Amino acid sequence: MYRILVLNGPNLNMLGTRQPEIYGRDTLDDIDALCRQTAEKFGACADCFQSNSEGALIDRIQQARGSYDAIVINPAAYSHTSVAIMDALLACDLPVVEVHLSNIHRRDEFRHFSYVSKAATGVICGLGKKGYVLAVEAAVSLVKGE
Ligand code: DQA
Repeated sequence: MYRILVLNGPNLNMLGTRQPEIYGRDTLDDIDALCRQTAEKFGACADCFQSNSEGALIDRIQQARGSYDAIVINPAAYSHTSVAIMDALLACDLPVVEVHLSNIHRRDEFRHFSYVSKAATGVICGLGKKGYVLAVEAAVSLVKGE
């Protein structure tokens, strides 16, 4: 069974009520459930973790090496600021799929650049919760070497 770690960064625990016109009305629990269902559909299992803390996300990325086969991550605002998360992802030696609910390229200029993209195998943005479905499917596919 392939193991996928789904990581969500700061303020994504507020999904459902946080700027729903941008991020939708689904909660993080809804999205986590969708990720688990998608992983199962493709013969994998997904563990989901959210933190508002950069250090906690880095700890989970470091622990993923050897325990997981791929990482799906929405680093939220840390995408645009965190060299440390980028470095942790580069060090973990796993396929990484970066996902954003919104299309970061249509938004403020400071959101156009993502450090995490430099460590990602692929990036999905602008498709809302569907992006997580595609990201988990892509992660499993990468692990299977398809
Ligand atoms: C986000 C986009 C980021 O710019 C923002 O800081 C977020 C969410 C998204 O999913 O669209 O918190 O990663």
